[in-house]
Amino acid sequence: MLLEGKSVVIMGAGSGVGRAASLIFARNGAKLICADLVAERNEETVGLIREEGFTDAQAITCNVVKEADVQAAIDAAVSAYGRLDVIFNNVGIASPVRNNALVRFDEITDEDFDQLNDVNFRGVGNGCRLAIRQFLKQGDHNGVIVNTASVAGMVGWGGVLYGATKGAVIQLTRGLAIENAKNGIRVNAVCPAGMITNFGAGSAPRVVTPELESMYGKQHPLGMPISPEDCANAALFLASDMARNITGVALPVDGGYVAA
Ligand SMILES: NC(=O)c1ccc[n+]([C@@H]2O[C@H](COP(=O)([O-])OP(=O)(O)OC[C@H]3O[C@@H](n4cnc5c(N)ncnc54)[C@H](O)[C@@H]3O)[C@@H](O)[C@H]2O)c1
Repeated sequence: MLLEGKSVVIMGAGSGVGRAASLIFARNGAKLICADLVAERNEETVGLIREEGFTDAQAITCNVVKEADVQAAIDAAVSAYGRLDVIFNNVGIASPVRNNALVRFDEITDEDFDQLNDVNFRGVGNGCRLAIRQFLKQGDHNGVIVNTASVAGMVGWGGVLYGATKGAVIQLTRGLAIENAKNGIRVNAVCPAGMITNFGAGSAPRVVTPELESMYGKQHPLGMPISPEDCANAALFLASDMARNITGVALPVDGGYVAA
């Protein structure tokens, strides 16, 4: 029960890491606002939480790019649970792919640039700044932010534009951790390597097969595929009081990939 009684907003709760975190956080006693752009998948997540017998979970449709949507998610937590304790800024979209290949940086369009920056960087930034405002308003020297970055923000991996936005998330995490340490607010990031989720899959959900799992596993020294639950467990630790003296950290969840 690492998050017993904590009021938590999870961004990107409709799939992958966000869905896994929603379930794991609920099992650890959190009261949740599950936020996602895709209402149907988000409501499915809340349905799964309720099937396990947890009633403190609400779905809200939210585009993290829009300040008003992010504010509405935070307001929903305050209205339902009296305060905000934790925000998990987990939304990210993949590099553009055209003709079955990652688009090279010199071939990206203005539109690609705006889209990746908006969702991956501004979206996390919106969650951070609005949560910090709420934490400061609560005035009790508390508040936790966990951001999802990527190993692509630490080493050259995958699409260049994507990696640059994730590098920005890591630097945002560090800067905010220092700026807000005196306010008792902790800010950390999880940095997963490749996981089999709907990330980059378009509208058709990705099917996990043993072949795909074996292929993903081979990308890392530990040899096992990284699951959304692995990443959600790392986020759970950082969100909890177990990590009370940890801030400004970018924690790889990568089977040893960046250490190799
Ligand atoms: N899957 C990977 O290989 C991988 C690797 C490294 C990092 N990551 C990062 O992990 C995080 C979670 O990814 P995932 O693998 O669970 O992906 P996913 O696509 O399965 O889930 C992402 C969720 O975010 C939602 N979303 C997308 N745009 C949104 C927006 N503008 N506003 C609100 N919600 C929005 C989607 O609807 C989806 O439910 C992302 O930040 C991603 O960049 C993923």
